[in-house]
Amino acid sequence: MAAIGVLGAGTWGMALARMLCNMGHDVQVWSALPEEIDVLMATGKHPKLAHMELPEDLGYTKSIQEVSGNKDILLFAVPSVFVRSTAKAVCPYVADGQVIVDVAKGIEPGSLFTLTQVIRDELSRRQELSKVKLVALSGPTHAEEVAVDLPTTIVAACEDLDAARRVQSIFMNPKFRVYTNDDIHGVEICGAFKNIIALGTGIARGLGYGDNTAAALITRGVREVARLGELMGCKPDTFNGLAGIGDLIVTCTSKHSRNLTCGMLLGRGKGKEEAIREVGMVVEGIYALDAAMELKKKYQVELPICEAVDAIVNQGMSALAAGEALMERMGRQE
Ligand SMILES: NC(=O)c1ccc[n+]([C@@H]2O[C@H](COP(=O)([O-])OP(=O)(O)OC[C@H]3O[C@@H](n4cnc5c(N)ncnc54)[C@H](O)[C@@H]3O)[C@@H](O)[C@H]2O)c1
Repeated sequence: MAAIGVLGAGTWGMALARMLCNMGHDVQVWSALPEEIDVLMATGKHPKLAHMELPEDLGYTKSIQEVSGNKDILLFAVPSVFVRSTAKAVCPYVADGQVIVDVAKGIEPGSLFTLTQVIRDELSRRQELSKVKLVALSGPTHAEEVAVDLPTTIVAACEDLDAARRVQSIFMNPKFRVYTNDDIHGVEICGAFKNIIALGTGIARGLGYGDNTAAALITRGVREVARLGELMGCKPDTFNGLAGIGDLIVTCTSKHSRNLTCGMLLGRGKGKEEAIREVGMVVEGIYALDAAMELKKKYQVELPICEAVDAIVNQGMSALAAGEALMERMGRQE
């Protein structure tokens, strides 16, 4: 059994903490928001996952030092915008030999680092941590379903397959099947970009378009992400796997998808801030747009769906006009 520190008490962190604790692991949860820990301890419930029963032996702490001490695994489950600050805060307490698992999905604007690269960048302040393994855990996984043990699959990705296998063996259970992949960069690119494609699919839904359009955006979307990823040196197969097309399908179709919901609101004419407020939880696709546009420039690659979403979200173009322009630009060769 493993000792696991969970950083972040949002829906995904808590769904995984519950699952790991029920498997018999020794799990402790930390949040940057002390009041969040108070609510969890007092009620045994997560306010946004009311149907989830939290086990009594799940531990909590408000101390980042405590959550990271004597742990085999540190699980980063904060939204992408807080990954760097959380890595900076935990860095003094990380021990050599620990494995850090990141489940957040995004790319840092400016540095264009994936989130495990952001964590590595912060850890590099302490040379002795150069051997700490970083694993990305990503795939078609909504917290709402893992919270009640519905069958789910996910990918543990690391250049060092032994580290990925270690995470696989710790997280795997009869309802949660973990695959391994050594293409961590490809897995992380998939996780960040699928949220943008889901925003686009939601916008199309909001405009009243149907299943034909959604299928087109999903299928052309995976090609779009793969085109960029291959230029970045990622493996083509990654984009056709669970972290690629698998996550894209669930994010573009599920009622639990915040990016899809946010897109629908945008497609119905709501502004960015209003749509985000209405969703009420992190909408990673919005944050990923700046990095996507920077990557487009850097790699001189066509990303027509991402560009259309950026035009609507960040440049005030009407969803209808952006959609029409997109139909013209989506390429002619499969
Ligand atoms: N929810 C899912 O189903 C799911 C599934 C797979 C991956 N993810 C990814 O996991 C990440 C977290 O998603 P979530 O759904 O748990 O988000 P959420 O909106 O539920 O979580 C917000 C949490 O962020 C933490 N937080 C708030 N302010 C902070 C700060 N200043 N510093 C550090 N932490 C702070 C708090 O614990 C808060 O509960 C995202 O990148 C998301 O894409 C989510």
